Amino acid sequence: MKIVVLMGSPNKNGSTNILVEQFVAGAKAAKHSVEVLDVCHMNIHPCTGCVRCGYEGPCVQKDDMYTIRQSLLNSDMVVFATPLYYYGMSAQLKTVIDRFCFFNSSLNTRHLKSALLTVAWNADDWTFDALMAHYKTLVRYINFEDQGQVLGYGCGTVSMTRRSSYPQAAYDLGRNL
Ligand SMILES: Cc1cc2nc3c(=O)[nH]c(=O)nc-3n(C[C@H](O)[C@H](O)[C@H](O)COP(=O)(O)O)c2cc1C
Repeated sequence: MKIVVLMGSPNKNGSTNILVEQFVAGAKAAKHSVEVLDVCHMNIHPCTGCVRCGYEGPCVQKDDMYTIRQSLLNSDMVVFATPLYYYGMSAQLKTVIDRFCFFNSSLNTRHLKSALLTVAWNADDWTFDALMAHYKTLVRYINFEDQGQVLGYGCGTVSMTRRSSYPQAAYDLGRNL
């Protein structure tokens, strides 16, 4: 399987990245190919809502979304990786998702598998309620097939995350695909 990870943390060596690295190691051990796109450091602008694309067609903004589009439409699975920011995904990852607009139908037709990797400082049981509601709704709307989530409660720093069970959970998610 070809897997694309949309890495939505601006910290290249932070907690989100620990989960991404472990997921990639697991997926590669299971002989999948994985491409990690560091979306926070790509040239991606917010959707302007002009709808010149008609929800399926060229976007007037010629930026790195074309690279992301090509990778996603040639893949079998997308992984959303994000730190929890004010109980949702990072703005950088949301910016990418909003730009799905110009290949909305193509993405829907691909019926990609999907997964979510996320970390938060908070460890209350409701920590990921809003993010999970959003993720599940996206899966339903874009016709993805969810393969699982790693919700890293109490992963506020790199050392907290390394001490937790979540890196192993991310490895296992990739390994068991
Ligand atoms: C702007 C910002 C907003 C955050 N919002 C939340 C939040 O709503 N709930 C929470 O538990 N942690 C929140 N955090 C903490 C991060 O989710 C947590 O530290 C995470 O490990 C950061 O991941 P990273 O190392 O990949 O950057 C926030 C951090 C930042 C910088």
